[in-house]
Amino acid sequence: MKPLIVGVGGTLRPGSSSEAALQLALDAARERGAEALCFSAKDLQLPHYDPCVLERTAGQLRLVAAFRRADGVVIASPGYHGAVSGLIKNAIDHAEDLALDQRAYFSDLPVGCIGVAYGAQAATSVLHNLRTIAHALRGLPTPYGAAVVVGESSYTHGRWIDPATRERLALVGTQVTTLATALAPRARHKRIA
Ligand SMILES: Cc1cc2nc3c(=O)[nH]c(=O)nc-3n(C[C@H](O)[C@H](O)[C@H](O)COP(=O)(O)O)c2cc1C
Repeated sequence: MKPLIVGVGGTLRPGSSSEAALQLALDAARERGAEALCFSAKDLQLPHYDPCVLERTAGQLRLVAAFRRADGVVIASPGYHGAVSGLIKNAIDHAEDLALDQRAYFSDLPVGCIGVAYGAQAATSVLHNLRTIAHALRGLPTPYGAAVVVGESSYTHGRWIDPATRERLALVGTQVTTLATALAPRARHKRIA
């Protein structure tokens, strides 16, 4: 059975560099034999997560169902004022619906983290933000996480052109898939126990 990798990332901006970064990681996951499901910004225009409201929109239910089925997760966020963007954080907040599951939150799931920004400082901060969030959700941030800088020599016309950057983004998807393949039987057992 193929491991399912759920990707969350990007912005509403046409030609989003963080969405393109996510896609490169998910392509690498597919090359490694995973099934990959992508939630880009247009899929993440969800109501603000409210733990007191039980009704969920179709989009919210789709995201939560994907988190529940996931064997691994990749999250790619832009650096907005030095941190994860609100759109991406709101999407992640929906993992709270998994709090009382047998497999709570992202327990035993590898989580690939990608920070994208104009400056190295924000890209690195976002990578750290995402790793902290993954830990809070009981997930396992992959050993390699990517902090990538958008510049003329790295990203142009909606494409990451720098081979080294492409390789680093692919490595995130590869590591998530390798770990998901190893951990999936355990994670699935917990989910149905
Ligand atoms: C509201 C906003 C805040 C931003 N803040 C920062 C920042 O603090 N540091 C930085 O390096 N880049 C910052 N940027 C630039 C984004 O990180 C950069 O454009 C990133 O590539 C956006 O992702 P996208 O191409 O997927 O839209 C900001 C952009 C926006 C729109």
